[in-house]
Amino acid sequence: MEELKGLILSGGKGTRLRPLTHTSAKQLVPVANKPVLFYGLEAMAAAGIKDVGIIVAPETGGEIRDAVGDGSDFGLNIEYIEQDAPSGLAHAVLTAEPFLGQSPFVMYLGDNLLRDGIVELVQSFRSESPDALILLTPVPDPESYGVAELNGDGGVARLVEKPAEPKTNLALVGVYMFTPAIFDAARSIEPSWRDELEITDAIQALVERGLRVDPHIVHGWWKDTGQVQDMLEANRLILDDLQERVDGEVIESRVEGRVVIEEGARLERATVRGPAIIGRGSRITDAYIGPYTAIGDDVRIEKAELEHSIVLSGSSVSDLAYRIEASLIGKNVSIRRGPALPKAYRFVVGDNADVQIL
Ligand code: DAU
Repeated sequence: MEELKGLILSGGKGTRLRPLTHTSAKQLVPVANKPVLFYGLEAMAAAGIKDVGIIVAPETGGEIRDAVGDGSDFGLNIEYIEQDAPSGLAHAVLTAEPFLGQSPFVMYLGDNLLRDGIVELVQSFRSESPDALILLTPVPDPESYGVAELNGDGGVARLVEKPAEPKTNLALVGVYMFTPAIFDAARSIEPSWRDELEITDAIQALVERGLRVDPHIVHGWWKDTGQVQDMLEANRLILDDLQERVDGEVIESRVEGRVVIEEGARLERATVRGPAIIGRGSRITDAYIGPYTAIGDDVRIEKAELEHSIVLSGSSVSDLAYRIEASLIGKNVSIRRGPALPKAYRFVVGDNADVQIL
């Protein structure tokens, strides 16, 4: 088999993570203080893939280039491929055709996280040589995904993108392995109801042509981090595997369970109950950080309590009467209690924000 290449899709619109992704790429939102996209790049490198193309949108491409560079940090050679409009996953594949050429390839959606990586899947793709290999996993809400129907002998019978009435609970996971047969299949399909060239339809076209599409059921967890609740859940799942490490300063504070305190971070009269991570240069003072919380770099938390939340870099939270829970706080945000009576709320929040006073 020719050398396997990688294709990571990091374009698209990211409307469902607004307002965080109004100005930045959703694939760079951190999970356990690491951009989602990096997990996919690491998975590619672990599977022995060297040449990786990253599909980027014109609006967010620069930011992704700045974060990932030439790929040498990951042991990869990275080429950026600009997709002029978010016209669907199959359109992205066609855009990457000159880069991919005749190589078989792994396609990885840049907002997906797969706990067990792709090493074994790549091995079985190499040894079995199907025309395509897809990953499936049972989910409670199949209508939000591509959905597969299998036939009696376990082969793929039919694939439908986000059906209103799903026939099974088997969702298509955002990691696929293809041979160049996918290009003709992608050229043969029409845009869907959401006006996108769907990869699900292109794979269905492979099935209809009698080509071999092997389904693989994923057993470890998988997350599409497209929505806020999914981000928090992915954060929880990654933090669950955290290795304890304290490189920062801990002064008159309690650190319990699996906690990472990065270098240059400082706790003073604080309690951090893991799994949790505190980024570089952050200051946690007279505060409580509870389980499943990821605090980014250069964050200040003072006289406040947070749990099950993600706080991005440069933000500050102080003097709160109640605990912050299940929250996603963007970059350079300031949340604080006003100095005096009368009691009132005062907000400066971005478009499409969701603020709940409980
Ligand atoms: O996460 C798994 C699901 O991913 C599958 O079950 C679906 O069958 C598949 O269509 C896809 O559904 P989504 O609606 O979640 O895809 P989304 O629009 O979020 O795009 C996935 C990634 O690909 C995301 O990182 C953005 C990027 N993308 C998307 C489009 C539409 C591009 O790079 N170019 C595009 O044109």
